[in-house]
Amino acid sequence: MADQRIYELLVCPVTHDRLESVEQDGCTVQLVGASGRRYYVREGVPSMIPDPVPAVLAPHWRTWEQLQDNGLYAYIALPAANTSQDTEETDRALEVFHLSGRVLDIGCGPLRKRPAYVRNIPLEDYVGLDPLLGEQPREFRFVHGIAELLPFPDQSFGAVVFYSSLDHVLDVGLALGQAARVLQQGGWINIWMDKEPQEEAATGRIVHFVQRAARQFRAAVRELGILRAIRYVLRLAKLPIPEGARDQFHHQFPKPDEVIAVLERMGFGNLKSRDLGTEIAFSMQRREVPRPAE
Ligand SMILES: C[S@@+](CC[C@H](N)C(=O)[O-])C[C@H]1O[C@@H](n2cnc3c(N)ncnc32)[C@H](O)[C@@H]1O
Repeated sequence: MADQRIYELLVCPVTHDRLESVEQDGCTVQLVGASGRRYYVREGVPSMIPDPVPAVLAPHWRTWEQLQDNGLYAYIALPAANTSQDTEETDRALEVFHLSGRVLDIGCGPLRKRPAYVRNIPLEDYVGLDPLLGEQPREFRFVHGIAELLPFPDQSFGAVVFYSSLDHVLDVGLALGQAARVLQQGGWINIWMDKEPQEEAATGRIVHFVQRAARQFRAAVRELGILRAIRYVLRLAKLPIPEGARDQFHHQFPKPDEVIAVLERMGFGNLKSRDLGTEIAFSMQRREVPRPAE
């Protein structure tokens, strides 16, 4: 959905400067910051990943790109198992989520339609961001970008969501810091993430791998039928695991307790959480900074 209002919201993801639109034939084609950094707009989608990426992200960039390629295959081939379309599952997270005001969905996925957990948010209040350009045109305002370099001004959202995306980012600390930056005081961060595997030992990782493969296979049989499911699982097994990655899709598994501790140090409180078995959903509020007495 090409929507003029998205440009008004954007800043340079590196310097946070406002951007000037460059138009051709009445269409925005480039966004240029005071520093001279340029971002391209293709088919109405602002592409806000700087090129080259800042040095802090460079060491793991190629590994992450390979994981993203792997992910894209799985998300498109079997969206039912690899994206959040199931309203029953997402409703359990919504019991502890706070999605009010303008909502930023960080890692919204590659699909044309919105994930189930944000289906009730008015379209004008919702912005999805993902590094996968994915299916176009989207049915919502979409920005091509990464969590570590959010192209939005400070305090511009009432809520942010990481739903099954925090364990895919390059740098969890940077991503959480950026989420805190773009949240208004009193705004909420909402996270759904895996609790497993806590074990670093090889046996724990093998059990985890087998459990995931079994879940994928069951879903594939249900969605694709037995023959295509076998083909899908064989293709998954062949996806490369790049150096330094934990599996074909993740280069880290952040632990929920550690994420909560980081957010507390950043000044978040009012934790509301729900244990969902192998996953957890929780929300935390960015504390209001008390106004000085007049
Ligand atoms: C498992 S999918 C979840 C998609 C969607 N949230 C859902 O639940 O349907 C993980 C998403 O995280 C995105 N992702 C990976 N690295 C990211 C980053 N650095 N910043 C933002 N999103 C990222 C992926 O592109 C992918 O779309």
